[in-house]
Amino acid sequence: MLNFLDSHLRYKSGAPHSLRHMIRYIARATKFIHHAIKTSDLGLAGTSNLFGEEQLSLDVLADRIIMDNLKVSGLVANAISEESEEETVFEHELKDETYSVAYDPLDGSSLVDTNLAIGSIFSIYKSGPFIGKTGREQVAALYAVYGPRTTLVYTTGKGVHEFTLNDVYEYSLTREDIKISDTSKYFAPGNLRAAQDNPKYKKLVDDWMLKGYTLRYSGGMVPDLNHILLKGQGIFTYPPFPPKYPNGKLRLLFECNPFAFLMEMAGGASMIPAVSSP
Ligand code: AHG
Ligand code: MN
Ligand code: MN
Repeated sequence: MLNFLDSHLRYKSGAPHSLRHMIRYIARATKFIHHAIKTSDLGLAGTSNLFGEEQLSLDVLADRIIMDNLKVSGLVANAISEESEEETVFEHELKDETYSVAYDPLDGSSLVDTNLAIGSIFSIYKSGPFIGKTGREQVAALYAVYGPRTTLVYTTGKGVHEFTLNDVYEYSLTREDIKISDTSKYFAPGNLRAAQDNPKYKKLVDDWMLKGYTLRYSGGMVPDLNHILLKGQGIFTYPPFPPKYPNGKLRLLFECNPFAFLMEMAGGASMIPAVSSP
């Protein structure tokens, strides 16, 4: 019975009941997004997000599905999404311990129309203002991959575990205690254009190629990092690219912090680009 998400959370996650219960609502939201990707409109919503990026109807729909599930859980004090301008503070009566959730409802939007794998990313903290929170304060991180199979990978600080959505919409355990080795033969060099005027990055990528490493890069952060976790090896980069992305494009709160937590819990390492560059 340990091989379903609910029982795994109960007996292996070490998480308190409130956190386990809230993660179940996140898992529930990913099932609706899994369905929406197959059935809804893939076009533009006609709106843009805080970062000035055009939103797909699917970005907006995924955002609403997640926000609705966080609200109905009754365990989220406040939530912030890559796709919405403001933080949402829930006014409902809060029972039990509550959480703050930062999420990227649909990562890889530019890949949706080409049928490449995309994902959702979630970063969970004990409740409180997001300003000033650091990645080290996360109590859980998880992501879903919507590809040939829909999978959910979570950590609550006790290992990294993968579940696969089955035909009756249950998440069953497919990998437990995922580990990343110290050596690698794969590289995922994001933002390669930055190598033109970043000699250190150019030298790094040249070295990887001279060593005969295998390139594995789709342009979707979720499948690209999922590849590293499931192969147990690899390096992913996305360096700054002035003037468009002086601190790098990937968002600390919605993308880098949760993946840094997951990678470190699997024995990997992370260098947040806003703090250090290659
Ligand atoms: P999002 O779709 O949530 O905006 O994120 C896309 C990100 C990430 O998935 C990927 O690593 C990166 O954008 C790719 O950026 P470029 O298209 O600039 O290479
Ligand atoms: Mn993203
Ligand atoms: Mn996104």
